[in-house]
Amino acid sequence: MISDPTVPAGPPAPPPSPAPGGGIPDAAERMDREELRALQLDRLRRTLRHAYDNVEHYRRAFDGAGVTPDDCRSLEDLARFPFTTKADLRDTYPYGMFAVPMSRVRRLHASSGTTGRPTVVGYTDGDLSVWADLMARSIRAAGGRPGHKVHIAYGYGLFTGGLGAHYGAERAGCTVIPASGGMTARQVQLIRDLRPEIIMVTPSYMLTLLDEFERQGVDPRTSSLEVGIFGAEPWTEEMRREIEERGGLHAVDVYGLSEVMGPGVAQECVETKDGLHVWEDHFYPEVVDPVTGETLPDGEEGELVFTSLTKEALPVVRYRTRDLTRLLPGTARPAFRRMGKVTGRSDDMIILRGVNVFPTQIEEIVLRVPGVAPHFQIRLTRRGRADHMTVRVEARPGAGPELREAAAAAIARGVKDGIGVTVGVEVVDPETLERSVGKIRRVVDERGR
Ligand code: DLL
Repeated sequence: MISDPTVPAGPPAPPPSPAPGGGIPDAAERMDREELRALQLDRLRRTLRHAYDNVEHYRRAFDGAGVTPDDCRSLEDLARFPFTTKADLRDTYPYGMFAVPMSRVRRLHASSGTTGRPTVVGYTDGDLSVWADLMARSIRAAGGRPGHKVHIAYGYGLFTGGLGAHYGAERAGCTVIPASGGMTARQVQLIRDLRPEIIMVTPSYMLTLLDEFERQGVDPRTSSLEVGIFGAEPWTEEMRREIEERGGLHAVDVYGLSEVMGPGVAQECVETKDGLHVWEDHFYPEVVDPVTGETLPDGEEGELVFTSLTKEALPVVRYRTRDLTRLLPGTARPAFRRMGKVTGRSDDMIILRGVNVFPTQIEEIVLRVPGVAPHFQIRLTRRGRADHMTVRVEARPGAGPELREAAAAAIARGVKDGIGVTVGVEVVDPETLERSVGKIRRVVDERGR
């Protein structure tokens, strides 16, 4: 991070403790790629059969595409099967995609559903057990060990973040502090008093917590926290650096979505911090061209698509996540491919005068500029026939008019040079933008259409 001349130099940052190392892989994590692929094919064929036999939607969709589960003889054959979308789940709301009788469904969750009906997802006992195992595996990959205390500030409730993390941390042998979201001052007090080693929270809410530490006069680098497991929204390498430096902890990424399971579909390993290993023994990933739907080779960026391999209550076949990323070979867990950090959702993409802009691109630029805080918002308005974007960003405390002006100019220049569009930049006073307590809303669209 570029040092900020307006912030008085504090005590030197204690070096973060060494990366805790790669955890104790379970038996599945030690498989080689060939063994894994054989397991995937077997589980895939069972999943296609389970979906076809028990969910009317899949029977119709497969019949419509002229395929039956028996047509899947190799993993590549999956490309012949139709996609599933969020609209399919909405159209069959609430239980139409469930593949088991309700008496076997032990828990429901629902996605937030910012537009239209929410989607409801269900889990059998077996599904909940697999979820806890995979979340425990994720926590271990992040450096968690039995005996660690885990502060969970993902929201508890219909959102999968809180309870998903909770049962995983218990399964990993950790001690859970189920804080849920909100009541920020109390969260910080709890962390100071109960001394957890691990925190699980959205990256934007972690920023809110770091601010609150400072407000209470405590340097967050002196806290007990060693690792943060951050997800549920896109975040950048610049944000990782900001959180690691200010918090004195290792920041790793966790990914998931309710339709596929919840958190713990993919996890970044703390010793490499190089993208997220997809737990491919339970989820088969593909990346497709978002427009044509054509499967793309590993390494190419496109839309991430998942097929569940072991889910009972709600099997998903080629579910289109809308998340944009690419698949890469495994590193710390060699058999499992990685996904790059998600650059954004195709629905979050802003098209400004013909140029595609993602909030993560703005985040990268804002976080490199001295004098401004990592709190920003993107406002879209209409001027005449043209769309206009304004980046509103908070000044760091103590940043005077000259520094603010220089920061605004640097951000506008960064966006023009890096993305190729002209935007307005407003540097506003500290503590004026809405703070995140969960998933942050970056874009305020006032174009009125
Ligand atoms: O956000 C599950 C979750 C909870 C993941 C806690 C990680 C931690 P949904 O509410 O269904 O589920 O939202 C899923 O959130 O399609 C992505 O767009 C976004 N998302 C989740 N994790 C990441 C991540 C949970 N690590 C949607 N990076 C997904 C970027 C993420 N985006």
